[in-house]
Amino acid sequence: MKIGIIGGTGGMGKGFALRWSQNHDIIIGSRDAARASDSAVEYTNLAKEAFGEIKGTISGSDNVSVAKESDVLILSIPYENIDSVCSAILHEIKDSCVVVSPIVPMTKTDVGFEFIPIKENKPFSYQLVSKHMKNKSKLVSAFHVISEKKLVNPKLELDYDIFVCGDDDESVQVVNGLINEIKGLRPIYLGPGELSYLSEISTPLLLNAMIRNKIKNPGIKIV
Ligand SMILES: NC(=O)c1ccc[n+]([C@@H]2O[C@H](COP(=O)([O-])OP(=O)(O)OC[C@H]3O[C@@H](n4cnc5c(N)ncnc54)[C@H](OP(=O)(O)O)[C@@H]3O)[C@@H](O)[C@H]2O)c1
Repeated sequence: MKIGIIGGTGGMGKGFALRWSQNHDIIIGSRDAARASDSAVEYTNLAKEAFGEIKGTISGSDNVSVAKESDVLILSIPYENIDSVCSAILHEIKDSCVVVSPIVPMTKTDVGFEFIPIKENKPFSYQLVSKHMKNKSKLVSAFHVISEKKLVNPKLELDYDIFVCGDDDESVQVVNGLINEIKGLRPIYLGPGELSYLSEISTPLLLNAMIRNKIKNPGIKIV
């Protein structure tokens, strides 16, 4: 399976690449193809350092080329850039491509971390991304509550739940499979995409809990 990571030069992209390159071919996307290639070389070296050999490969390209080639496309970009990035790439994807949004619409204010859709009366991430998709059912929302700090250490064992929202069972199963490949993560299905705001709002919830209560490694686990 070819997994493309749009904005893969950022922290989350690095974590996904390191974790999934053991089994899949990863293509790092960037607005700048050279930056993507540099990141791909760096991540390949880190993955080999951590695991010895890796079964997959990590390469880099510009965002549009990555979108065209991918079987699964992770949108690892800031909320503010959804419209500009998605309008340029999502009409280029394969019909079968599963699109994953880990995007958290969050801002820091003087009271703490807040949820932009409520604070500023804006759409949540799933709604914004789905506007740009021909087949909206292939969009799955996941990975909002796992920090890049945990993902980028490929040897770190995790023990967290990941909320998943989506309309198409087959696409949700693909994402569940990718979550299960990261040792210690468990997919928890919340319902269709229109409930994605529940997952997206969990991140500011978690960060406020962490900071106000000095909790070191916060995560969400349903018990
Ligand atoms: N960080 C976390 O722990 C965490 C946890 C859960 C969810 N998330 C969510 O995951 C997503 C990625 O997080 P991140 O921390 O990796 O983000 P990031 O480092 O802030 O950005 C990721 C990439 O987005 C691209 N980008 C930045 N500005 C852009 C612009 N104006 N237009 C187009 N592309 C732009 C950049 O790639 P190029 O410059 O190479 O194009 C950048 O490397 C975010 O939506 C975040 O809310 C993050």
